[in-house]
Order: sequence, then structure tokens, then C-alpha cells
Amino acid sequence: HLTVILTASDIISTVEFNHTGELLATGDKGGRVVIFQREQESKNQPHRRGEYNVYSTFQSHEPEFDYLKSLEIEEKINKIRWLPQQNAAYFLLSTNDKTVKLWKVSERDKRPEGYNLKDEDGRLRDPSMITMLRVPVLRPMDLMVEATPRRVFANAHTYHINSISVNSDYETYMSADDLRINLWNFEITNQSFNIVDIKPANMEELTEVITAAEFHPHHCNTFVYSSSKGTIRLCDMRASALCDRHSKFFEEPEDPSNRSFFSEIISSISDVKFSHSGRYIMTRDYLTVKVWDLNMENRPIETYQVHDYLRSKLCSLYENDCIFDKFECVWNGSDSVIMTGSYNNFFRMFDRNTKRDVTLEASRENSKPRAILKPRKVCVGGKRRKDEISVDSLDFSKKILHTAWHPSENIIAVAATNNLYIFQDKVN
Ligand SMILES: *[C@@H]1O[C@H](CO)[C@@H](O)[C@H](O)[C@H]1NC(C)=O
Ligand SMILES: *[C@@H]1O[C@H](CO)[C@@H](O)[C@H](O)[C@H]1NC(C)=O
Ligand SMILES: *[C@@H]1O[C@H](CO)[C@@H](O)[C@H](O)[C@H]1NC(C)=O
Ligand SMILES: *[C@@H]1O[C@H](CO)[C@@H](O)[C@H](O)[C@H]1NC(C)=O
Repeated sequence: HLTVILTASDIISTVEFNHTGELLATGDKGGRVVIFQREQESKNQPHRRGEYNVYSTFQSHEPEFDYLKSLEIEEKINKIRWLPQQNAAYFLLSTNDKTVKLWKVSERDKRPEGYNLKDEDGRLRDPSMITMLRVPVLRPMDLMVEATPRRVFANAHTYHINSISVNSDYETYMSADDLRINLWNFEITNQSFNIVDIKPANMEELTEVITAAEFHPHHCNTFVYSSSKGTIRLCDMRASALCDRHSKFFEEPEDPSNRSFFSEIISSISDVKFSHSGRYIMTRDYLTVKVWDLNMENRPIETYQVHDYLRSKLCSLYENDCIFDKFECVWNGSDSVIMTGSYNNFFRMFDRNTKRDVTLEASRENSKPRAILKPRKVCVGGKRRKDEISVDSLDFSKKILHTAWHPSENIIAVAATNNLYIFQDKVN
């Protein structure tokens, strides 16, 4: 693997490739968005292909204060989603807990000169001094990348937004919070349609919250959302405007022998993703990743143990709040491999065909150019072999929650606190 390491100024809170993988966007706790662009292949340095360099950085969200509820609204970027490119500019959606913004990122390498009413510095000219008309001209200048907010979708969420998802019709998107999902048109910011509402009339009866939601990649009427009870609902917007009644309900009955105080907490789903093909959905809970076939609701077709050795440590993970960590999961471009994060800066890959799995580590030692990622092993119990790390020495403050996989190549981006690692297959 060839590797690149980049240090962000703040804790990275989301990572997302665009639809061809040439651009990679990260969002951070400080409300910034950083976009990286992949270097083009050059004849002189063929091995350099694929390095991602900073293309644009901008402040997407600022901290705010909700005076009605006396609550601070954090600027942290919860999610970023790219829109497919339609003209020379790029568009992306970014969201914090309350407000979704549509950003336009465009390049400028020319600037107009020779205005009639103002001088080159933008100061208005004295009209009495203007004696003849000039035709403004465009002059070349250094390439500048500008980010401009095009739309602000605010005031539609009482609870915290956990997901945004662009519909395959590319005209609408949805935003989901703990209890509601709204559908928006990209052109309309003062109105959204509530498509799911699970808020009980009496909040004391609340037993379940929405944890993630995503549109089907090809069917614009279909979406899924997951819950804190470990269930997934598939909804069809053609059936009714308010999708409170799901059309499919995916749930695995719990193994009674495994029942414990922590059962409900660890079964909460932290991420849900459709496969590129649209045939499967993948869910991540605290200890496992599951793959579900859309045609089978009563159990997943595959279950992968991410870090089963933590099963005996749930008590201390509860005490230090780690048990509430929200790990994400991603597919590779052909849906044959899945990746998700763990602790100690470890991340896991599961090959669905060969059933082989591997634990890798995102660390500075591994990130020297062209270093090879060595598989890591965690051992439980007494005997520890060289190269193995014992469960008790794992660092639970180093967690990999956010990862992304290039849509068509073996390139992955892994966010480890405030470092972004990009790993890719060796060229030849
Ligand atoms: C992704 O970004 C690259 C810019 O480097 C652009 O050429 C490409 O069209 C984008 N892909 C899509 C599908 O938006
Ligand atoms: C939204 O704004 C448009 C244009 O300003 C206006 O015509 C429309 O009535 C507004 N809708 C609502 C629900 O306020
Ligand atoms: C029950 O626990 C064992 C390990 O103790 C685990 O291997 C198994 O997958 C668990 N079953 C379920 C349904 O989670
Ligand atoms: C998915 O992973 C498999 C196994 O590493 C690889 O052969 C395949 O090329 C990957 N697909 C994409 C599109 O990255």
C-alpha cells in the first residue's frame, strides 16, 4: 500500500469521496470542510499518481445559540454528501445538528478588469470624471477555488440531524434526526415535507430513536432508516405521503442466552448503507456488521464480528461511555468487501467471498510512503505472541469512526481523530 497522511486542524467528523473518487471531502468538529483533489497522472512520475492534495478549505458552519431553548448549537459537521457534477462547479451538502447547507465549489482563473463605475480596487469612481465608456476585459490570474453557500435549509429539525442522503432523482434529499425525517427539494429552502415522524404524543413513552437513514441508490421512492433498537425499516414513498408505516421491517431475534443489561445498547444501529447494487443493506452495531438481503427480513445473511473480544469488557466500556460510540461502515466499489472501524486506531475489512478478514492499523509508523500495512492481531487471555496486542492494552481513546472507500478503486480514507490517512494499492 502507498500511503498519504494529512493532519487536519481539528477532529475529523466525516469523510466522503465524490462519485468518481477524484475529490475527497472531510468535515471537522470546528465546522470546517476540507476538500482534497487527486493528483493527475504524470509521465515523469508515474508512481505519484493518486496522491490527494488540499484543493479547498472553507468554514461551513459557525457555532450558534438557540435563544428559545437556551442551547448552544455546535458547528461540528455531522455529514457531507456530494451531488453529481452537472457543470464546471462542484456541489455538496454539509450539515451540523440543525442546519443543512448546499455549497458550490468553483474555480476561477480570470478576473474582470476595466469597470466603468469603479476602479481596480473596487472603489467607486467619481461620475464626473468618467468621460468615456470602457469595455471590461477578463485577465488571467492565479487559480482560485471559491466556496459559496447556495442554499441554507434551516429551522426544520427540533432534534439532532444524524443523516442526510441525496435521492437518485437528484432533485430531492432527506435529512433525518432522532425522531423525524424530512424531504427537501434542492431549490426550496423555506419548506420541507415530513416523511417519517416517530415522536410519541407523550415523550415518556419514547422507546426508540432514528439513528441513520439512506435513500436507495436507484429507486427514488425507497429509503431505509435504522433505529436504536437494532431494527431497520424500508419505506416506500409511493405508498403514502407520511411513511409511518414501513413496507419492510428487518430484525434479528435476540439470542436469549446472550441477554444482558447491555443487550439493547449494543444492538443500537450506528450506520446503515445500501450496497451499490441496491440489493443489500449493511448495518453496524457496537460489536458487529450485518449484511441484509432486501428480500429477507427475519435475519441478516451475513454477520461479521468486529471486535468480539470486547464482549467481556462491556461494563468498563459503559462506564467510560465508549459503548455509545457511533461507528460507520462502508462497501468497496464492487460490494465484495466491507470496512468498519474499531479502537486503538484499528480498522477491519471483511471479504464477503473468501470470508477472510483483517485488522489494520492507521498510524504514523505505517504511513511512510509505500509502507505496507501489516495485519494486526488482538489476543485474549494469557499467552501473547510477538506482534500481538492484548485486549487490556488497547487504547480506547483512539477510535476510527469514519472511513470512506473510493467508488471504483482500492483506495480508502480513514479518519483517526485529527489525522486523515489515505491508503491505496501499490501501483504495479
Ligand atoms: C468528482 O470530482 C472530479 C474532479 O476532480 C470531477 O471531474 C468528477 O466529475 C466528479 N464526479 C462526479 C460524478 O461528480
Ligand atoms: C416559500 O418561498 C416562496 C418564494 O419566496 C413563496 O412563494 C412560498 O409561498 C414560500 N412557501 C412557504 C411555505 O412559506
Ligand atoms: C452470542 O455470544 C457469542 C459470544 O459470546 C457470539 O459469538 C454470538 O454471535 C452471540 N450471538 C448473537 C446472536 O449475538
Ligand atoms: C473490492 O475489493 C476486492 C478485493 O480486495 C477487489 O478485488 C475489488 O477490485 C474491489 N472493488 C473495487 C471496485 O474497489
